[in-house]
Amino acid sequence: MKKFIHALPKVELHIHIEGTLEPELMFELAKSNNIEIPFNTIAELKDAYDFHNLQSFLDIYYQGANVLVKEQDFFDLTWAYLLRCKADNVIHTEIFFDPQTHTNRGISFDTVINGIHKALLKGKEELGISNKLIMCFLRHLDEDAAFHTLALAIPHKDKIIAVGLDSSELGNPAGKFERVFKEAINNGFLTVAHAGEEGPPESIRDALELLGISRIDHGVTCSEDDTLLAMLAIKRIPLTVCPLSNTKLKVFDAMEQHNIVNLLREGLCVTINSDDPAYFGGYMTDNFMAIAEAHDITKTEISQFTFNAIEASFISAEEKERLTMVIKNYLTT
Ligand code: ADE
Ligand code: ZN
Repeated sequence: MKKFIHALPKVELHIHIEGTLEPELMFELAKSNNIEIPFNTIAELKDAYDFHNLQSFLDIYYQGANVLVKEQDFFDLTWAYLLRCKADNVIHTEIFFDPQTHTNRGISFDTVINGIHKALLKGKEELGISNKLIMCFLRHLDEDAAFHTLALAIPHKDKIIAVGLDSSELGNPAGKFERVFKEAINNGFLTVAHAGEEGPPESIRDALELLGISRIDHGVTCSEDDTLLAMLAIKRIPLTVCPLSNTKLKVFDAMEQHNIVNLLREGLCVTINSDDPAYFGGYMTDNFMAIAEAHDITKTEISQFTFNAIEASFISAEEKERLTMVIKNYLTT
């Protein structure tokens, strides 16, 4: 199974570029940019990656992102992630970035997006990995800040396919961003949102009803509501699920208790993704393997996660057909 999963061409739809910052690069950038981090060694830093919920992770994740200063830093971060994609046979990736994490520290929007974008162009050219970029609003910040960020993004519309919503779900309902999402849609952006990671099924309903989203990031608490579950299955509304993230952040106590396999068998368009791999212990192959090891699952079901990801992606119908053929060819040779 390990060989099959590793070689399976994969599509990633839920990855925060700031969450790919490996400890080694964090220390290197802290030194070169003269940024203090409250850890003396990589071992000390890794010891701090012991999370009990989403917020305990976010506190460390935002602190880590402080070392990213120059355009080259954003380029190096993205390039390192793309090399991981290549090693894991990821053929297409849709990447989140959190501009407010950086603009709030005085880093310009252009520095962030240009560094990421240049690496993505090189990744397409040299590694053959296609991509889309999604800009997330931080939901713990206010509506005005989101509107301001949307205005900064508009001149870069050619580089950004969609807007998303991430950070602390509890206490920050989707409704807070209804107007900014409407404005984003009016400007031609697609929309997605984190919902149902820690929040209840109502949080998923809100995101669907108020934000016009094309897919739900996480969404695993949908299984607490049979009516919602049936609707997600019938409408094939995609869920970008992140197994290692969910167990690291105690959404599920153990991988055996993860509901993704049940959701797949109930006909939902569920996909496997890595979320913040540098913090949660693994990239795409590791996430697939974690599910395969904890659940009795067939190779056909494993491949269905990739077919679902192609269906849920923001690429053209022709590209979807092409990627589907890549997977079918893999399965028949
Ligand atoms: N930002 C980075 N990772 C996140 C997650 N898992 N949930 C919400 N916001 C995030
Ligand atoms: Zn996420």
